Amino acid sequence: MTIQIRNTIRFLLNHRLVELSDVSAVQTLLDFLRIDRNLRGTKEGCAEGDCGACTVLVGRLLGGQLKYESVNACIRFVGSLDGCHVVTVDSLATPGGPLHPVQQAMVQTHASQCGFCTPGFVMSLYGLWMENAKPSVTEIEKALQGNLCRCTGYAAIIRAAEAISTIGDLGKDPLFAERDRIASELAALQDGRRVVIGEGAELFMLPASVDDFADVLEANPKATIVAGSTDVGLWVTKFMRDIAPVVHLTHLEELRRITVDDKGVTLGAGVSYAEAYPVITEHFPQLRELWDRIGGQQVRNMGTVGGNIANGSPIGDTPPALIALGASVTLRKGARRRTVALEDFFIAYGKQDREPGEFVEAVHIPFLEADTSFAVYKITKRLDEDITAVCGAFRLTFDGAGEVADAAIAFGGMAGTPKRAVHVEAALKGKAWQEPTVEQAISAFDQDFTPLTDWRASAEYRQLVAKNLLRRFYLETQATGNIRIDRNIAVAV
Ligand SMILES: Cc1cc2nc3c(=O)[nH]c(=O)nc-3n(C[C@H](O)[C@H](O)[C@H](O)COP(=O)(O)OP(=O)(O)OC[C@H]3O[C@@H](n4cnc5c(N)ncnc54)[C@H](O)[C@@H]3O)c2cc1C
Ligand code: FES
Ligand code: FES
Repeated sequence: MTIQIRNTIRFLLNHRLVELSDVSAVQTLLDFLRIDRNLRGTKEGCAEGDCGACTVLVGRLLGGQLKYESVNACIRFVGSLDGCHVVTVDSLATPGGPLHPVQQAMVQTHASQCGFCTPGFVMSLYGLWMENAKPSVTEIEKALQGNLCRCTGYAAIIRAAEAISTIGDLGKDPLFAERDRIASELAALQDGRRVVIGEGAELFMLPASVDDFADVLEANPKATIVAGSTDVGLWVTKFMRDIAPVVHLTHLEELRRITVDDKGVTLGAGVSYAEAYPVITEHFPQLRELWDRIGGQQVRNMGTVGGNIANGSPIGDTPPALIALGASVTLRKGARRRTVALEDFFIAYGKQDREPGEFVEAVHIPFLEADTSFAVYKITKRLDEDITAVCGAFRLTFDGAGEVADAAIAFGGMAGTPKRAVHVEAALKGKAWQEPTVEQAISAFDQDFTPLTDWRASAEYRQLVAKNLLRRFYLETQATGNIRIDRNIAVAV
């Protein structure tokens, strides 16, 4: 089949259509807004997705539905925006006109001091308001995990979030009231073409479909795949790396599919953390806290599970949990697919079982069996929006006599890859699930892991924490008993 090509990217920026043919593969949305379009309301604080000063909303059609999400403009590439609606703080109020209800709420509750963080908070709260007009404090805190303020303090900002619906009517908000018109404008931008911009060190492409992606990647095996860009964005903004040619997954709805069958859950590699959240927390409620603590909301809106696996990081949060659950990944090169156990995908530090021209297509997560206990623990210096020092995941299945029939224990932050604790598992299997068994298995950690010291944690701390996490898991199973599996929905009892 001949693929038709377009050499421009098109998106809505606030109230206008933007069409660009001359844009670099590494141009960030933040630079585009501030430098090219003189939209200076969006601020740059860290340029690495941490502070939220650059937060904007990006609306896109998913299954025909228009959804707006908060994203970090500093690590989002302009090239990834084809077919989207970018909403910046500059569009919220006209000069001399009334403030937007979110802005008014910030003023009324004295939620701004120096003001540098304020546009980012406003946009995060706007995104929350559109999803949930009357959020609880917990929901507000979760939506603001990715926004930092160094002077006001968060109490006033939370009061602002609570006040928005007393000031404004969501039904009359332009993004809400004009949703159908905006959706049809975005639909009109979707022409099913492959987008190709630039050449050489500037080349980037947006394949039209997964089959087209497979062809593009086979022809360009050294290309950098960009999914949510929450890792790759920093290669550019912090490490000044050349990443072209770039292949964006923006248009690949097939990679955003989530399927649930009688065996488990399958996530397309392009499914974001936020998209996966409802199904993950329904079927694996033990993953809720972990999921809530991955980055901030902007990172969860952008970042994908596929990217978390493909980057091969030893401190990525999902691999230990998914390995303990027995997950596998489907890899595709051209028309050829193969499925490997996730634990085998990680070969050594910086080396994964992925050939040039091959990509991660999907992740399969089997349901927990009956009489199984499962837990995952993320240990960080700061509770929210912090990268893991140690992450431990434990899945134990018991026989009728209370002995350990099967054990899968995996750790991040303890080796050059996410890795199973095979000696600890062996020390538990076939034994009574009792304190002496746990204490005797603890010494096997020294056979499984020789962790490193870095600025997140010392080797000694990591080893001690890993051991204590097994103790904690044991104590928690005594407190809560096993996990009851009820129609593929796991319930802690
Ligand atoms: C502020 C901040 C906080 C963060 N917090 C956490 C955290 O708490 N826990 C955590 O685990 N991570 C965290 N991260 C890291 C990052 O968000 C995750 O690793 C995320 O899952 C990466 O997904 P992505 O879609 O953004 O990947 P990208 O950045 O787009 O890509 C990452 C890598 O995967 C490759 N890739 C992407 N998709 C595919 C595919 N389908 N096939 C083959 N290769 C592919 C890319 O080429 C690249 O090498 C954080 C990042 C930031 C900026
Ligand atoms: S500038 Fe700090 S998150 Fe973007
Ligand atoms: S008001 Fe100054 S950083 Fe938040």
